[in-house]
Amino acid sequence: MDIQSKFPLYGALIEHVNKKPISFHVPGHKSGQIQQGDGRHFFEQILWLDVTELTGLDDLHAPEGAILKAETLLAELYKVQKSFFLVNGSTVGNLAMVLAACSEDDTVLVQRNCHKSILNALILAKVRPVFLEPEYDPAWKTAAGVSFATVREAIRLYPNAKALILTHPNYYGMAFDLETIIQEAHLHQIPVLVDEAHGAHFIIGQPFPASAVELGADITVQSAHKTLPAMTMGSFLHFNSELINENKVKAYLEMLQSSSPSYPIMASLDLARYYLTGYNKTDLAYLLEKVRYFKETLETIPAIKVLEFPNQFGDSLKITIQTRCELNGFELQKRLETEGIYTELADPYNVLFIFPLLKEGQHYPLKEAGFKIKRTLRDLPLMKQKKDDKLETNKISELVINFKEMSCLEEHALHIKEALNCVCAETIIPYPPGVPLLLRGERITSEKLEQLMSLLASGAKFQGGCLIKQGMLKVFRTT
Ligand SMILES: Cc1ncc(COP(=O)(O)O)c(C=O)c1O
Repeated sequence: MDIQSKFPLYGALIEHVNKKPISFHVPGHKSGQIQQGDGRHFFEQILWLDVTELTGLDDLHAPEGAILKAETLLAELYKVQKSFFLVNGSTVGNLAMVLAACSEDDTVLVQRNCHKSILNALILAKVRPVFLEPEYDPAWKTAAGVSFATVREAIRLYPNAKALILTHPNYYGMAFDLETIIQEAHLHQIPVLVDEAHGAHFIIGQPFPASAVELGADITVQSAHKTLPAMTMGSFLHFNSELINENKVKAYLEMLQSSSPSYPIMASLDLARYYLTGYNKTDLAYLLEKVRYFKETLETIPAIKVLEFPNQFGDSLKITIQTRCELNGFELQKRLETEGIYTELADPYNVLFIFPLLKEGQHYPLKEAGFKIKRTLRDLPLMKQKKDDKLETNKISELVINFKEMSCLEEHALHIKEALNCVCAETIIPYPPGVPLLLRGERITSEKLEQLMSLLASGAKFQGGCLIKQGMLKVFRTT
């Protein structure tokens, strides 16, 4: 039998459960026996797997048995030096990789439209970030990846940077030319850290974009739970570097993750790896056929447009529809929910569906979903969509005060118009394009202020900026 067709950790748990063990250990639910009320029905089965570091079940932080075997199989599948199971999402992987690769005051190059866990990692590591503006896709009305030209220029300006931190693909599944970017960074001995939260399945091969692990990234973090059949929070960190110390990654994971990691989550990671291992050409053909069928159904609805990836360079599991009618993206999403169709996210224009990674013969209620979507979106009056204001921003930018200084400064709220030349104390992210317009620690220039006011006037949506709707911005008191 192929070694990959085993699931050592899940197997060890089942072996344990089959002994009908009597628990005098944590957790307090004692394999689900101590429970009351409604939850019992749902939890009964899974709580048998929710155990602790018992004999035969290994220890995530010092693995030498079933967990080590499961992680080794994972590393073999992804062809990397070492893979780690994560029980606190890509969030903890991103924190650990940045902390392991960077030291205080290091200059690091960071794709600006990154997840907040990367921004938090920069703060914890007390580094000096240089932000790289991503390209904007006008058809999708969203930010994609960074260009090779931006990365090359950033490396020319900051040749001593200690890391390049990228996000690949973006939330909508758009990929970019990661290979040449990684090569360029490596030419300058700069390690590349990739948040590939949405790409754990990319190693299946075309038409999926290549994974960062195949393209030479030093560390790649993946939310297995986002696209593989793994439990929420279950994620992977793949280490494949001559430039970063593996023991440092291990040490940070130990510090940042629970000392009581969830066995159901870890076992689901073992099973997700097993699922991926057996994914063959017939499965892929079946999946792509189902994707085609679903997209074709959506394409018959006049109120929406199904977006295509530029140059077909994107994740086939991600299907994005864009409004052509009077409803904006958020309203479209709400409308779908009235029919019991729950999607991954909405922005002012788009709604994102994440398709299941089906294998041959697996049923998914696509026909029913298509019928319901058509029923709820039919007869919506079409409306000409307005063009966005294009945000003109610097391709490469730095903070004006560093994280250490920020932590000592007081903050106060000012009317937006009075905030000119102040240092922003909050991160303001307009959607679209989902790229921070202002980051905590950046100077509020007249251009930024004008863009902010024009976005507010056009009814744009924001993340961050708790007082923005009242026309106020939080700034640092610097004098
Ligand atoms: C690009 C990106 N990175 C990291 C994360 C965090 O992942 P997790 O939920 O696995 O902690 C997310 C979550 O949505 C994400 O979209």
